Amino acid sequence: MMAVPSPRTPLVAMVGGGQLARMTHQAAIALGQTLRVLANTGDEPAAQVSPDVVIGSHTDLEDLRRVAAGAAALTFDHEHVPTELLNKLVAEGVNVAPPPQALMHAQDKLLMRQKLMALDAPVPRWLGIETVEGLGELEAFARQTGGALVVKAARGGYDGRGVTMARDLAHAGQVAAQYLADGVPVLVEERVGLRRELSALVARSPFGQGAAWPVVETVQRDGICVQVIAPAPDLTQDAAADAAQLALRLAGELGVVGVLAVELFETTDGTLLVNELAMRPHNSGHWTMDGSRTSQFEQHLRAVLDYPLGDTDAIVPVTVMANVLGAAQPPSMSVDERLHHLFARMPDAKVHLYGKAEWPGRKVGHVNFLGTGGTGLAELRNRAELAAHWLSHAQWTDGWDPHG
Ligand SMILES: Nc1ncnc2c1ncn2[C@@H]1O[C@H](COP(=O)(O)OP(=O)(O)O)[C@@H](O)[C@H]1O
Ligand SMILES: [Mg+2]
Repeated sequence: MMAVPSPRTPLVAMVGGGQLARMTHQAAIALGQTLRVLANTGDEPAAQVSPDVVIGSHTDLEDLRRVAAGAAALTFDHEHVPTELLNKLVAEGVNVAPPPQALMHAQDKLLMRQKLMALDAPVPRWLGIETVEGLGELEAFARQTGGALVVKAARGGYDGRGVTMARDLAHAGQVAAQYLADGVPVLVEERVGLRRELSALVARSPFGQGAAWPVVETVQRDGICVQVIAPAPDLTQDAAADAAQLALRLAGELGVVGVLAVELFETTDGTLLVNELAMRPHNSGHWTMDGSRTSQFEQHLRAVLDYPLGDTDAIVPVTVMANVLGAAQPPSMSVDERLHHLFARMPDAKVHLYGKAEWPGRKVGHVNFLGTGGTGLAELRNRAELAAHWLSHAQWTDGWDPHG
């Protein structure tokens, strides 16, 4: 006889079949559940592992209805579902989590900035451009801010795609005009002098419970996150508490349900500014899979199901996460053999691979390393970097010879 889950087992449905859905499914298993996913194709990371896959598009109302049917909550692994479709689902009784009136602030960088200002959150100076006529304001904004400009597509970007560091005013104008021609509004902002980037990750349940993980440092290269250090080294207790409080307050004021990531800039003078928000499990929280009592994926499920939230304490003094990014030339060595060598050298590496084809720069997995902190941090970071590079390139950048 085939075992079937109890009909009382709640079903969470997730739009998107990427790695975030894959790892949420992994957390669902421990709760006796199965994540239902809406994927574009059967070979997406989550579609490979969940037995409950709806193949379809996140821009098709019928497909969204199919994935939501019978689910206790409908949630997301990306922010690209049109708000009007979500409003329709809500009207039909679907429990959309986070609700569209919260999620819209993570979907549109202009709305996000307006809302953050209204909520008195510190942000870089910015200008919204929604029409070709609006381009006329660019020069005055550049004069007023005085420095370099960053031009962003208000919608649809990720991992630095949709973000341009403008060379000069003319370049900024060209990039902005191109987005507008494609029908995408534009956010222009001052290029902030960064000491580093941080992320404050929290979760909020409909009941109103909130929980914050330690604030982390996110190391970016070419607009893409390459490493996360949890907690952020040398962040004063006051600054860390302020950042976590801000994230919890934003989650409450926006009515977020699930995980909220608040990406922060620490400027050269030590000020914290909010860069952007994500209302889903986030790359800056991958360390929690091994380094915290409760992973962000389990927490997201708990929150959307309105369960009490889990303990967010770190279980070791420091965790380093490194993303495995596809090599420019994927190596001929099989992933199987790469794992073999990695584990031979680094038995403590915690590997998470997403089942994705390797494209240059694509996030195909991550590794977590747990450490005791202090002076060992540099070594831990170095090992995480070596491991991630090995997994994507089949090369030890320190010249390690496995047969030596
Ligand atoms: N105003 C800015 N000043 C300096 N660097 C920026 C600014 N905006 C973005 N960046 C850099 O670009 C990265 C990606 O920008 P972000 O707005 O977070 O886009 P995405 O949606 O692709 O994550 C940031 O993490 C940061 O490294
Ligand atoms: Mg970002």
